[in-house]
Amino acid sequence: MRVTRHSVRLAAIAVFVALLATPVAAQSVNRAAIDELNTQLLYVALPLTLFVELILVYAIYRFRDNDDPKPTADDPALEITWTTATAVILVFVGVSGYFVLTNPFLTPAAAASSGETGESLEIEVDAYQWGWEFTYPEGDFTTKNRLVIPENTNVTLVMSSSDVIHSLYVPGLGIKQDIFPGQPQVARTRATVPGEYDLYCAELCGSGHSRMGGTVVVMNQTAYDEWVATQSSPQ
Ligand code: CUA
Repeated sequence: MRVTRHSVRLAAIAVFVALLATPVAAQSVNRAAIDELNTQLLYVALPLTLFVELILVYAIYRFRDNDDPKPTADDPALEITWTTATAVILVFVGVSGYFVLTNPFLTPAAAASSGETGESLEIEVDAYQWGWEFTYPEGDFTTKNRLVIPENTNVTLVMSSSDVIHSLYVPGLGIKQDIFPGQPQVARTRATVPGEYDLYCAELCGSGHSRMGGTVVVMNQTAYDEWVATQSSPQ
């Protein structure tokens, strides 16, 4: 009876962990890379956490009434083992992180150096105190605090600031990039799910910082083309 209850509890924990670790379909290639790394590290961290906690609980229980504690004896084999195990885990974390950091969508400089830039829709972003202006390549029009992009298209944001340091932050699409005055910055993405995503300024830039937000609208290609046509037509 006890065994049954025990296994039910274990199964419940396993389902809970699986739910935690299963990411919702990612909204962009950036987001996908970041979510995948999170999941990967979670699978490593969870068993380790459980292992450490179990040893802790065991030690508390086992030595609860120890009136005559002895100093720990040297155990070189054990020490080498835990040092090696820790090193292996740290290398794994480092290598996993490196591959995500050098993803050409997360670090556009990595894309440039590998020559892997490809075709891309280039949108100019001007950050200022306190708002965003987007200039589109298809015509001579701009939008304010509302960035519209087509889905499944490589998008390059060429960003500059007219005053102080700002930071373009779109958590839903996994984009975050500081923008320094006089030093254009590039951010890239390919959004995969149409919808609206919140955009924030993530660098304290003055009294209007908290209001320096906006929306990123991801449309399918047809809707985007129609939207561009309405924007370009003379008023
Ligand atoms: Cu711009 Cu904070």
